[in-house]
Amino acid sequence: MFNFNFYTPTRIVFGKETEYRIGKLVKNVNCKKVLLHYGSGSVIRSGLLGRIKESLDASGVTYVELGGVVPNPRLSLVREGIEFCRKEGVDFLLAVGGGSVIDSAKAIGYGLANDGDVWDFYEHTRQASACLPIGVVLTIAASGSEMSNSSVITNDETLEKRGYNNDISRPVFAVMNPESTMTLPPYQTACGCTDILMHTMERYFTNGGNMEITDAIAEGLMRTVITNAKILVDDPDNYDARAEVMWSGSLSHNGLTGCGNDGGDFASHLLEHEIGGMFDVAHGAGLAAIWGSWARYVIDNCTPRFAKFAVNVMGVEPGKDDMETGLKGIAAMEDFYRAISMPTNLKELGIDPTEEQLETMAKNARIATGGPKGSAKKLEAEDMLKIYQMAAGK
Ligand code: NZQ
Ligand code: ZN
Repeated sequence: MFNFNFYTPTRIVFGKETEYRIGKLVKNVNCKKVLLHYGSGSVIRSGLLGRIKESLDASGVTYVELGGVVPNPRLSLVREGIEFCRKEGVDFLLAVGGGSVIDSAKAIGYGLANDGDVWDFYEHTRQASACLPIGVVLTIAASGSEMSNSSVITNDETLEKRGYNNDISRPVFAVMNPESTMTLPPYQTACGCTDILMHTMERYFTNGGNMEITDAIAEGLMRTVITNAKILVDDPDNYDARAEVMWSGSLSHNGLTGCGNDGGDFASHLLEHEIGGMFDVAHGAGLAAIWGSWARYVIDNCTPRFAKFAVNVMGVEPGKDDMETGLKGIAAMEDFYRAISMPTNLKELGIDPTEEQLETMAKNARIATGGPKGSAKKLEAEDMLKIYQMAAGK
């Protein structure tokens, strides 16, 4: 096992009616003016935004609003938000929504606390030295951004989707009421469950420093998400299943399931980000569509981990050797994706990239990572292209 640094400063306020505590939570950070940041309207339709405003009003907190964040959040709105917040004197950002809204808030926070162009951080040409404090009211269990150090933004001029990780962006608090996720369309619930699984799978399929305790937490988390994702297909208002998935989402991406290993693989995420940037697909669905091809491509290099996953997570009967067991595990995972109506290739995702587009994605993925990517197997640009081709059936 490797040394590790586990830092998780976010206060979690979890459970029913917790949104009524927002006013007091924000008051405690001693800010002058809050930006209420949200998406395309689900929080208005559900009444959640109204309840949050009631709570802020009751605590005497002043706020302004900026909605309009879309999935695969746009740099143009980030820039608009930075300008707006400067003009208004905003000193605290409250993200009400999912990963897209939280990531947009993080980007606005970087832009406000640092000089120069915020996109520099996403291009990794310089580091941010500060970020405005951020609070979260989570409405979809998926990205884990409510506790993560990560923000993923799409440059709407170039269609590049890029991530920037820095601990200074970890939210101060996250309010998580599982009931708030009951208004999600089934497709988004399934996308979220996939993303949660993938955040732990990225850390599980590694070739270095594995720890028994980390594996046990990771395997338990993955089994929990699989069980409850299936429950939610038929019973979307099941509070306990919503709660299990929601808390799993935070634990999956706050670093806990990576303690002691070599930092994770994250090639599937890298490959998906290029698909999301070019085709604007839902992140979770994009991951499901690429994962099987990635897994079959790298299994030779990481066979024991795939065999362990097959038995301990997917519950398959061991085959004659680790390779056979591992392949059975991959097939079982794809069966699970189908059971929750997730795609297992690019065609099922609803896209049909040309060879040229596949090459562009592979080339850009290589640029985004600045070198070979992965731990299960280190991928060069030509490996990435082969995985895209497998997923595209070419
Ligand atoms: O915009 P609204 O109207 O709110 O609708 C959203 C959106 O259309 C809807 N939604 C959210 N909560 C809802 C709801 N609809 C009804 N009821 C609710 N309670 O769901 C749609 C998707 O929302 P989004 O925020 O995009 O989903 P998610 O949380 O999956 O975030 C995806 C983004 O996060 C990034 C992804 O790349 C993607 O851009 N990620 C961020 C990470 C991080 N910062 O740590 C890590 C992840 O790996 C991921 O890359
Ligand atoms: Zn993800």
